[in-house]
Amino acid sequence: MRLAGRIAIITGAGSGIGRASAVLFAREGAWVELVDRDSAVQETLEAIEDADSKTSMHVGDVGEADFARTVVGDVMARRGRLDVLMTAAGFSCGGTVLTTDPADWDAVFRTNVGGTRLWSRAAVPAMQRQGSGSIITLASQLAIAGGRNNSAYIAAKGAIISLTRTMALDFATDGIRVNAIAPGAIDTPMLRRSFARHADPEPVREASRNRHPMRRFGKAEEVAEAALHLASDASSFTTGTVMAVDGGWLAA
Ligand SMILES: NC(=O)c1ccc[n+]([C@@H]2O[C@H](COP(=O)([O-])OP(=O)(O)OC[C@H]3O[C@@H](n4cnc5c(N)ncnc54)[C@H](O)[C@@H]3O)[C@@H](O)[C@H]2O)c1
Repeated sequence: MRLAGRIAIITGAGSGIGRASAVLFAREGAWVELVDRDSAVQETLEAIEDADSKTSMHVGDVGEADFARTVVGDVMARRGRLDVLMTAAGFSCGGTVLTTDPADWDAVFRTNVGGTRLWSRAAVPAMQRQGSGSIITLASQLAIAGGRNNSAYIAAKGAIISLTRTMALDFATDGIRVNAIAPGAIDTPMLRRSFARHADPEPVREASRNRHPMRRFGKAEEVAEAALHLASDASSFTTGTVMAVDGGWLAA
């Protein structure tokens, strides 16, 4: 088991990549703390075999500083350590800089960038005290390749890459590794919602699928495997990287 006895917090654990990672981390022996604003996070808890006392859930908004502080404080009080933080909570709204409603722009940044910052800020002191930790952030292949009609989301994911690199440098000598995953289009509820925003979704869906050299969408479980690598000691000399899990999108 690659995460035996490790304590992991995963935000966005109620769906998609966060849920698949929570299930995989638990299967690899981690004690998982599930965070999501959606009570569907209960279904993730139920999907984890032998969850009993090793898994807990916390329902709230990752953009609330008090929520991050409270959950990390609670985890430290109950478990005494924190080995892994994975910040998978995120969403997109679509739109160019001309068409994106300012409130939507702020909400995308608040969850994606703000959530990454606040949960890292809450987790790092605990990891510094123990002299080890792995933080895994969620960027996107679009932050590197660019993309159309999704400006707030793509800008936010670019900020997450920069934040990941700077945190990796700031905390490297504390034994804390910080890495980003840049998925391609992964078949999750978020991806399905983004296609559904188009008047005629099917051609957009096909174009996105075919933009991947592997000619398919990724699976949440495939991203979870990359997260497991970054969470575990298998990546002990890896920090400040952006790991693409994109079916070749960035190579094309
Ligand atoms: N699916 C893709 O194609 C894709 C591609 C690149 C990057 N990503 C990134 O991967 C991460 C996971 O995406 P997914 O596809 O699994 O999405 P998803 O919608 O299936 O799951 C995201 C989860 O985050 C939660 N969440 C959103 N905002 C929140 C908030 N403010 N507070 C607490 N929880 C919140 C949602 O309730 C949901 O359970 C996101 O950061 C996303 O941007 C996804």
